[in-house]
Amino acid sequence: MEVVIVPDAAAGGELIAEAMARLLRGTPGALLGVATGSTPLPVYEALTAKVRAGEVDVSRARIAQLDEYVGLPADHPESYRSVLRREVLEPLGIGMDAFLGPDGTAGDIRAACAAYDAALAAAGGVDLQLLGIGTDGHIGFNEPCSSLASRTRIKTLTEQTRVDNARFFDGDIDQVPHHVITQGIGTILEARHLVLLATGEGKADAVASTVEGPVAAVCPASALQLHPHATVVVDEAAASKLK
Ligand code: F6R
Repeated sequence: MEVVIVPDAAAGGELIAEAMARLLRGTPGALLGVATGSTPLPVYEALTAKVRAGEVDVSRARIAQLDEYVGLPADHPESYRSVLRREVLEPLGIGMDAFLGPDGTAGDIRAACAAYDAALAAAGGVDLQLLGIGTDGHIGFNEPCSSLASRTRIKTLTEQTRVDNARFFDGDIDQVPHHVITQGIGTILEARHLVLLATGEGKADAVASTVEGPVAAVCPASALQLHPHATVVVDEAAASKLK
């Protein structure tokens, strides 16, 4: 695992966007795995700027979703499909035909999860997976004590994660779904390059456990230690509890 400490979130976004651009210059049809939440936004902004400046061509790029709420209609503004369309696909000029995601409204959620793992494999696997991290060390929505070998499946959000995400639902926790589909930790580990971005002091404990703690289900992100090509990009605040 390599750890890169950057001065601030914008520098982290630029560094990761450049890694994505490098990948796309060599592999124009690369499959980029993307996360939602606040942390990755500087990455998407920096990549969009590179596309607009003609520094990279994303016309053949493909985008894969990490997780999705269960039960929110796909066109709900806070479904992760809608969020990614708004924050990633539209700014980059990538069509929904190049998008892969699980169906959070399926009648048979277990089948939808298996179908998504199969779709990722059929697409050749994720080339670069961008990850955020929860204050409790979750990646995707693999909350603490998720199996490190888990596949895409339905999970129940912890109360803390629902409280954290209420900000996207007018601050009303009752609107935050209880369940999500998330790529499993085993699924995430199949991506060829994992890039985790963490910014702010609130992530410092989780980053320390991820990088310096034991590999343990209690900190799902510590599974990155098992990956042959994992990069953890942190700003100084998020790095403040590293030894
Ligand atoms: C969402 C996801 C989550 C977030 C995490 C941090 O797709 O993968 O693991 O990355 O909850 O969220 P922010 O970045 O909003 O602090």
